[in-house]
Amino acid sequence: MVKLSPLLYSAPFFFQLALADPLQDLCETLRSLGLKKLSSYISDVAAANTPTGQHFIGILSMGNAGPMTLFAPTDQAFDNFAVKLNPPERLASILSYHLVHGHFPLGIDDGVHDESFAINQPSVGQPGINQPGINQPGVVDGQQWSGTGQQWQGGEQQWNQGGQQGQPGTNMGNPNVYASDQGQSPTDGQTPVRREESESPIPDLQSAIVGNPPIPYNTPNHVTIGRSTLIDSKYVMLEGKDRGQVVAWSNVTGTDGKTRMLNQDSDCPVLKSTKWKEIIINVVPVVLYIPGSLPQLLMKHKLVAFKAMLKETTAPGMPMNLLDALDASNGYGSHGFTIFAASDEAVMHAKEMIPAMTLNDPHAMATVMQNHIINGTTIYSPTLCSSTYPFYAIASSGGPLTFMVNNTGTFVTINHNDGGPIHSARILSTELLAHNGVVHVVDSILMSPYRDDNAAYAAYNQAAAMASQPFIPEQGPVGLPTSLPIGTGNGIGGGVVINAAQRHFDNLFNFGGWDLSNYGVVLSILTGIWFTTVPF
Ligand SMILES: *[C@@H]1O[C@H](CO)[C@@H](O)[C@H](O)[C@H]1NC(C)=O
Ligand SMILES: *[C@@H]1O[C@H](CO)[C@@H](O)[C@H](O)[C@H]1NC(C)=O
Ligand SMILES: *[C@@H]1O[C@H](CO)[C@@H](O)[C@H](O)[C@H]1NC(C)=O
Repeated sequence: MVKLSPLLYSAPFFFQLALADPLQDLCETLRSLGLKKLSSYISDVAAANTPTGQHFIGILSMGNAGPMTLFAPTDQAFDNFAVKLNPPERLASILSYHLVHGHFPLGIDDGVHDESFAINQPSVGQPGINQPGINQPGVVDGQQWSGTGQQWQGGEQQWNQGGQQGQPGTNMGNPNVYASDQGQSPTDGQTPVRREESESPIPDLQSAIVGNPPIPYNTPNHVTIGRSTLIDSKYVMLEGKDRGQVVAWSNVTGTDGKTRMLNQDSDCPVLKSTKWKEIIINVVPVVLYIPGSLPQLLMKHKLVAFKAMLKETTAPGMPMNLLDALDASNGYGSHGFTIFAASDEAVMHAKEMIPAMTLNDPHAMATVMQNHIINGTTIYSPTLCSSTYPFYAIASSGGPLTFMVNNTGTFVTINHNDGGPIHSARILSTELLAHNGVVHVVDSILMSPYRDDNAAYAAYNQAAAMASQPFIPEQGPVGLPTSLPIGTGNGIGGGVVINAAQRHFDNLFNFGGWDLSNYGVVLSILTGIWFTTVPF
């Protein structure tokens, strides 16, 4: 037996003393807020001491990870949660997803620790939120949103249709990320199914429209993103190492003045906020859903046609179809992607054009689909939708994507390397989170035949190089230029990205080969100081 020095003996004892008290204090605070179940689950995780649990409890109780925000589900939320909370490692992962870097007091702080909200649960799926008629032209305030509103309504009808048409057979089986645990415990027949797409009567809450302002929660420019402490590779397969999964919420409040959490099965307003030491506690009526696989996500949001097209398309040189190449739940798909998924309606409009294109170009279908993919980099809407910080990326077809915010909406454009823009699509909704990337919905297919495999390869390699650098979690909103630590790549990937932060290392980039004089669109939006380039 190894003889421990007195110092080593005393170390665990010391840590126990240091840990136990703050944690107990936090648990007491939670109990006083009526959050008895959360409090006891946190104690369970501390006791079980699994790797994920240690990480979570360490951050929670030591208070040395900087400002944090804990999304705290009510007791009722845990009662409604259909997923098993054990083994302890799974519980630790679920709780880790609720702890986010940065201070985000999103609810009303009345300064009173009353328990009424624990009893007075807002009912799931409040009436009025998805009412047809609210989003009528004329009701809305300002041209910008009346356009989007109409757009949206059309899109929703189409999506509903898609849902009815959706073949049950295309549902990939496991509709929730927790199902990935099944492989490890086959006897665990009880792992509840969290969401059955084919029979779900739940309206698409991500697109819910509220009274005033009548803006869907996840429209471009109205989403804030926080980086959670969930880094377990069983649940998170973003690019790079130790990149926590993100949590997204809308800064469009409902008529009740409350912030909404996105990507949940049911309406999830932040009920109230309070503070314990350096941790903001936001009380929520739902146990937050850990993002799942891409196929699930596309089904869940009724992007049926786009999913089918990814499945049918194999790009030149790739040994599998695009859907499999993007889906990390099969063990080999992408780590990190941004997809601009066309709504079913958009696919219907484009259906005729693709066969015509493929007459002259056998790769046309692949090129068109790859125009919608940024390979290796997960880019959230605050980065895309900033009118102040121009940004562009290379699609996996090799075509340059540019982004534009103007008073008709937020657009993604596929460009030709030596010409102007080829095709623009409006971004309808954002932040559909998958465990290995993000999907934004667009209203049109990016119909461009321009292809450059070398450019795509170089962009991917540079994104991978940036992602392999040590990751430092953002201490505030993810994806805002002001929150980008210089030199880290920080969640938006490296060489495929142009933004304000990168102008600081212009000199790291090779200016040769990328003929900017021919590159009208990029130049026109990158005038002035926001200007750098990528090596080719
Ligand atoms: C929501 O956040 C975006 C940035 O993501 C900001 O531009 C917008 O003004 C905010 N809107 C409201 C209503 O706070
Ligand atoms: C906004 O930008 C898009 C994409 O570049 C363009 O198609 C549209 O015409 C623009 N709208 C206005 C009003 O400039
Ligand atoms: C991403 O790029 C890598 C390297 O070129 C390639 O192996 C992979 O198949 C690409 N994935 C997609 C979805 O394009």
